[in-house]
Amino acid sequence: MEIIIKSDYSEISSDSAMIVANQIKTKPNTVLGLATGSTPLGLYKELIQLHLNEGLDFSNVITFNLDEYVGLSNDHPQSYNVFMRDNLFSKINIKKENIHIPNGNAPHDKECERYESLIIRSGGIDLQILGIGSDGHIAFNEPSSSLGSRTRLKTLTQETVKDNARFFDNISDVPRFAITMGVGTIMEAKKILLIASGVSKTTPIRKAIEGPISSMCSASAIQMHPKTIVMVDEAAAKDLKEKDYYKWVYNNKKTLKN
Ligand code: GLP
Repeated sequence: MEIIIKSDYSEISSDSAMIVANQIKTKPNTVLGLATGSTPLGLYKELIQLHLNEGLDFSNVITFNLDEYVGLSNDHPQSYNVFMRDNLFSKINIKKENIHIPNGNAPHDKECERYESLIIRSGGIDLQILGIGSDGHIAFNEPSSSLGSRTRLKTLTQETVKDNARFFDNISDVPRFAITMGVGTIMEAKKILLIASGVSKTTPIRKAIEGPISSMCSASAIQMHPKTIVMVDEAAAKDLKEKDYYKWVYNNKKTLKN
């Protein structure tokens, strides 16, 4: 794992956008795995700016979102469909047919199989963006999710329902179920970029990076991934035991010629 500690959220947003932009420039038909939540909003804003100001071209990019709530219509303001449309897709030149989000209203088993085979048919995910939940989940892989799990229906924990209630009028409106890529699905991405910011991520980040690999913190599975970048700010990195070493590695790497 490459652990990069930035000073704040705005640096995470601009630097993670550069990683995504370089990926797209190197491979214009990149398959991107995308996340929702507040954390990637800054990254998406930066990508929109790179598209508008520097012509970053999404016309051949293919995207797969990690997850979608079950039971919300595709045009529900809190659906991840609307989130992605409003915060990224409607502002870049991505083709509609290249956008993939699980359908939370289709028969679940079939939909999960369909989603898995679509990812495979697209050649697999080149770069997967991840956030992290307060209980250490990635996508909606809540504690006890098998580290080999595939796309499937998951019941959200009460903690996740509470965390996500801020987007809804009432906590009782928050769906209890979601269709989510599994940990195993995510681990097949060729590269992973996990971003986290702020004090609410201090504990999940410590567990994910320095804790034991465990289904109790599905993000800890990324310790097994050969090409992962974890980009966090000082607040999220606060409790990392080896924080100084990560900074030392990063600064030394900058001096490498080849
Ligand atoms: C949800 C999403 C995750 C996201 C998490 C954290 O549970 N399914 O993909 O990482 O929220 O969101 P935030 O970035 O708002 O803290």
